[in-house]
Amino acid sequence: MPVTLSVVTGADVLTRTDDLIAVPVYAGPSPSAEALRLADALDIDLESFLAKEKAKGEPGEFHAFPSLGRLPAGGLLLVGMGERAALDAAAYRKAGAQLARRSGSAETVATTISAGAPAEHRVAFAEGLGLAAYKFTAYKSDPKPATLRAVTVLDTRPAPEVDAAVRRAAIRVDATSLARDLVNTPSLEKTPEWLAIQASAAAKRSGLRFDVLGPDQLVAQGFGGIVAVGQGSTRGPRLITLAHEPAGAKRHVVLIGKGITFDSGGLSLKPNDGMVTMKTDMSGGAAVIAALEAVARLQLPVRVTGLVAAAENMISGSATRHSDVIRHYGGRTVEVLNTDAEGRLVLADALAYADAELAPDYMVDLATLTGAMPVALGRKCAGLFANDDRLADALLAASSAAGESMWRMPLIEDYRSDLDSEVADLRNIGHGKKQGGAITAALFLREFVGKRRWAHLDIAGPARADGDDDELTKGGTGYGVRTLLSWLETVR
Ligand code: BES
Ligand code: MN
Ligand code: ZN
Repeated sequence: MPVTLSVVTGADVLTRTDDLIAVPVYAGPSPSAEALRLADALDIDLESFLAKEKAKGEPGEFHAFPSLGRLPAGGLLLVGMGERAALDAAAYRKAGAQLARRSGSAETVATTISAGAPAEHRVAFAEGLGLAAYKFTAYKSDPKPATLRAVTVLDTRPAPEVDAAVRRAAIRVDATSLARDLVNTPSLEKTPEWLAIQASAAAKRSGLRFDVLGPDQLVAQGFGGIVAVGQGSTRGPRLITLAHEPAGAKRHVVLIGKGITFDSGGLSLKPNDGMVTMKTDMSGGAAVIAALEAVARLQLPVRVTGLVAAAENMISGSATRHSDVIRHYGGRTVEVLNTDAEGRLVLADALAYADAELAPDYMVDLATLTGAMPVALGRKCAGLFANDDRLADALLAASSAAGESMWRMPLIEDYRSDLDSEVADLRNIGHGKKQGGAITAALFLREFVGKRRWAHLDIAGPARADGDDDELTKGGTGYGVRTLLSWLETVR
């Protein structure tokens, strides 16, 4: 169960009966007024305590006191926040995450952190809290129930504006959690068909239009890339569509997600270590499904279509071979020289389809596309490729507001000829050289976007985390969901 967040206006910290009251201490250390009042009630000389502890009021500092019956609440938690005047969304997001991880055995927490702050900061605080509290327990026979159930922000301002911020944060947390659940689900259960069923359930919950093409329809309609990648598996591919179509929308955005439900590499078989995490190779697709549900719940005034190209990349007697030539949607042919470069093959069909049939103003794809991307940017930052500077800038601004790091990468024209094939229109990998693989992959995708404004996010690094880290939890991170939402809120 996710943590419930609510806001109460005008309540007194001294009369709250929660298990824990969390209050801020700013840099100095400079305790907040509530911290001083609560310490007073507990008979603590806060100034000398903080001095003795050599406290600085910096992020990551915590001090806990039991109330020992002197207050109706169970205890007091002082939370270091850093310089008060310099608090930004990132600081609030971190504080929320830290609070979720430090609440110990408390089931209910009341806090004045983010009270009176701008909406963006309240959203970040609530997001950090909700995201850090995420747990994936679906496959535990005896899951430990999460302890923290409810957090109440004690506020000074009138409720409606604050409620809207909390509701927005809750939708963003729910969406990120859905993406994490989809990513963390093992591939034994997570077939392309299963992913389509999850998308259809999301559509039912939120009022999206849902559509899906199965293997026979994909063959009949010419989706040669999705078919070729999926044909080695007994569990056939799908092209999933979700659509949010509000009346009067001026712009149409198409989001495209790589939905490889397991990437064995195919005949270009991955070694064991490379395969262990490959249930997460549908992270882009998961982000698209989750973002679409949130777009509907937020009722954004923009038309958004989500396409998830879902296939299982397996090795078998029916798998695609090296040097096979496939025909993509729209007719372009590609010589497959490495079956492990499968993401670009399923995306090419989806991009060509969106360009030809959907008349998008913008196309944005998300994909765990290349091992080369985290080599360049590490595990916390996605690579952004775009053929339009304004779109790139808008996405960069959204990513920084959402606290998801990304960096713009170049589409180096000189490398394009590396994808020339002697027998087909293109080959699916460059000529042997291992370097710059994320760029060649992006250049390959660009061949299928026509004249559309297009951006590609290679999320191979940040889609997965190796351990808990502030708002991130080990496993699928749901990277991209919040950036997409922050961006779509600005598209008019
Ligand atoms: N899904 C992988 C990329 C990947 C690797 C994501 C590691 C996350 C972590 C992708 O399908 C792939 O195998 N790419 C190849 C491309 C190469 C054959 C040109 C790669 O990066 O090695
Ligand atoms: Mn692969
Ligand atoms: Zn892959």
